[in-house]
Amino acid sequence: MADQASRQGERYASAEILDYVARIHAGHDAGLARAFAVPEGVPSIMVGPSEGRLLQLLARLGGARKAVEVGTLAGYSAIHLARGMGPLGRLWSIEYDAGHAALARDNIAAAGLSAQIEVRQGRGADVLPSLSQHAPFDLVFLDADKEGYPDYAAWALEHLRPGGLLLGDNAFLFGDLLAEGGRASAMRAFHELVASRCDSVCIPTPDGLVLGIVR
Ligand SMILES: C[S@@+](CC[C@H](N)C(=O)[O-])C[C@H]1O[C@@H](n2cnc3c(N)ncnc32)[C@H](O)[C@@H]1O
Repeated sequence: MADQASRQGERYASAEILDYVARIHAGHDAGLARAFAVPEGVPSIMVGPSEGRLLQLLARLGGARKAVEVGTLAGYSAIHLARGMGPLGRLWSIEYDAGHAALARDNIAAAGLSAQIEVRQGRGADVLPSLSQHAPFDLVFLDADKEGYPDYAAWALEHLRPGGLLLGDNAFLFGDLLAEGGRASAMRAFHELVASRCDSVCIPTPDGLVLGIVR
């Protein structure tokens, strides 16, 4: 099993191939380009164009109408998710950093999505309880502090409907998933919790994207 999985993990895509397919399938219009090009001082750590497009298509495939994101940054993935949900969708996106939250609100307004996306500023652990009143949710996307993933996932599993989608980015933990230490064991606990409650897979995007469908 280990041999087979790692052999399948061989990569055929060069950087040029990845750029080409992103350009063909996941091109940016003005709204996405603005949220992707963060100003100096803001880290460029959003999902890549192909992952963003994947999130958009998953939200659309899942017929999501109510979603939560933990980790907004500049609103790039939030714009993808909201577009996937369509005009009837509503996304609550949580961001700890006040500067990032303000930037995201501007980008979301420029993309014409202020009515669909609400950015709540604060720590995920503090803000999530205030969203419980809007449950059940169709989709929860985790992309903030990695130590928080097990608690965020536990909240998500309580508040997603059966058949809802639980997604978590950076699931390979930048290559450290199997390392010692708190962050790695938190990420492994996240994987194991999702697998125990969902039909799940870790999609081998550059840093791994966990996708679980709640049983
Ligand atoms: C990887 S970025 C999010 C990228 C965004 N999802 C995208 O793809 O466009 C992570 C964000 O989580 C925020 N963050 C870190 N710790 C947090 C916490 N405890 N609660 C909420 N947000 C947090 C960071 O400030 C940062 O803006």
